[in-house]
Amino acid sequence: MKILFIGSRLYDDVDYYVKRKNIESILTESNENAVNLDLPDKVFIVPRGMGGPKQIAINQNVDAVVPLIGIDPPLIEVAKLKEELENDYGIPVIAADVRSVELTSNKINTKKFYSQINVNTPEYQVLNSPDELNLSFPVVLKQGEGQGGKDIKVARNLDDVDQYFKEFDYALCEKFVEGYEISIEVLGFKGEYVALPPIFKGKTTLEGTHPLNKTKLGPCLIDGLDNNLIQQTAYKIAKNLGSDGIFEMDFMYSTKNNQLYAIEVNTRPNGTRYLTTATCGVNSLCELINMACGDFSLASIFDKLEYHYSCEIPVGNYEGSDASEPLKSFDNNNFVVHGPEGYQRITIRADSKKELENLIDELT
Ligand SMILES: Nc1ncnc2c1ncn2[C@@H]1O[C@H](COP(=O)(O)OP(=O)(O)O)[C@@H](O)[C@H]1O
Ligand SMILES: [Mg+2]
Repeated sequence: MKILFIGSRLYDDVDYYVKRKNIESILTESNENAVNLDLPDKVFIVPRGMGGPKQIAINQNVDAVVPLIGIDPPLIEVAKLKEELENDYGIPVIAADVRSVELTSNKINTKKFYSQINVNTPEYQVLNSPDELNLSFPVVLKQGEGQGGKDIKVARNLDDVDQYFKEFDYALCEKFVEGYEISIEVLGFKGEYVALPPIFKGKTTLEGTHPLNKTKLGPCLIDGLDNNLIQQTAYKIAKNLGSDGIFEMDFMYSTKNNQLYAIEVNTRPNGTRYLTTATCGVNSLCELINMACGDFSLASIFDKLEYHYSCEIPVGNYEGSDASEPLKSFDNNNFVVHGPEGYQRITIRADSKKELENLIDELT
């Protein structure tokens, strides 16, 4: 089995799994100084874009392509590459297709999509000027595209909206949801979907603090909110997108109206994955590889499911005890450290809440 991976930044997360499965690994990367270039069997430095990976997939006669791209902008090019390689060369590309990227990469398109499939999403307006606003404050102002909280502002009054319009000429304006943030990963392949356990990402704040900077917990345990509802809603969204790979979905639970709202979908490797793996034993990046190898099935996912309590904490730079190999796996560890220096996070798991608390004290 020969797989082409696109992008090296996340490759250290799967290197141990690729080796364990005896896969021949080829990797393309556009930055010759990028991390992890020493890990795969073969590396090709190519210009930015999907032209290089396409040629290498064909010339190297790979069995499948697994893009490991954790940012939004290239996703549409990856989706087009999927069309070309699958239709013209019969090489599977384990990624979302053009339609699902178009629906999810723009938050306005996503809102319309939710309405079409009858999934609740916070009330919204697309504003072309502040005086069009007719939702009550507070509201959240966003751009169609962006990740990690980029270009997002919570507006408490008209001054805040005016301020936002000094920088932008339109806004997706959404009712502020007072309550909790939840993420969930869904795996999809060839018409089969499985929603993994939901993750708790903390309270929404008027400062708009992004979950990247909060402590997160798995599984999500919110009074009055059944995880089955989250999983069933996530499943419905994935099924209607009808594509392959990883779907990470953000939800909010309003404590005022006891209502679950869908916020956004990311069709790529994402920051929820360590908590998902810690909580249930399924690693979404490894499952992409299983999809490529023909080893993905719902039965195999259900066989892997475990139940743990987990927690992820931003630590800046981790200075605690060393983890065992493989470092990026919970196979021999009860914690995994990840993220760039200065922004590291630690994901910890245990079999009881008490044990988890002890481990947190020990490791942080
Ligand atoms: N309607 C909302 N109510 C309350 N907080 C929100 C709302 N929309 C976004 N936020 C805050 O902003 C963050 C980023 O918003 P999101 O739409 O998920 O964009 P991004 O793609 O940047 O993650 C959310 O995780 C949440 O903390
Ligand atoms: Mg988000």
